[in-house]
Amino acid sequence: MKTLFSKENINNIINEISQKIMNNYKKDEEIIIISLLKGAFIFTADLIRKIDRTIIIDFMIVSSYGDKFESSNKIDIKYDINIDIENKNVIIIDDIVDTGNTLYEIKNYLLKKNPKKIELCCLLDKSQRREKNINIDYIGFKCPNEFVIGYGIDTFNKYRNLPFVASLYNEL
Ligand code: PRP
Repeated sequence: MKTLFSKENINNIINEISQKIMNNYKKDEEIIIISLLKGAFIFTADLIRKIDRTIIIDFMIVSSYGDKFESSNKIDIKYDINIDIENKNVIIIDDIVDTGNTLYEIKNYLLKKNPKKIELCCLLDKSQRREKNINIDYIGFKCPNEFVIGYGIDTFNKYRNLPFVASLYNEL
């Protein structure tokens, strides 16, 4: 196991992202945060505590159809938000963007609920694997094309509790 992003690296980048978000939203603006479980739970918890704005938090659980290691184009929504996002500012938070299929599909799904705007925020960007052309508004780190774990990210549901991001072995 090789550490890619330490606890300190992550803390610093969260400070930067939270500052960018606060620069984009006025003090009296409300932000709806939609966090994608399970992977994003730790990143979300740390990030939102640094954002000095009115935040409403909700969660979604989605999974790709088919083989977990090869993302497919469609997602299966296993748990949906239960708040109204019409005319609201929404930020979707995820731990890692890989092919981009998950965020692409979720953004399109949520756009049908007529929010004022939707932004995307991701801790790790595995851009080499991208299949969908999506704009991530807030990115933590460029991530090498390796099998990463920790800070919410699992393999077979283990390692989510590591306080840093590590690489297990080369994926390719
Ligand atoms: C991971 C990750 C993203 C998605 C990224 O979730 O949290 O949501 O895959 O892949 P993509 O860009 O290729 O769509 P996973 O399905 O492993 O579920 P988890 O969050 O419960 O770990």
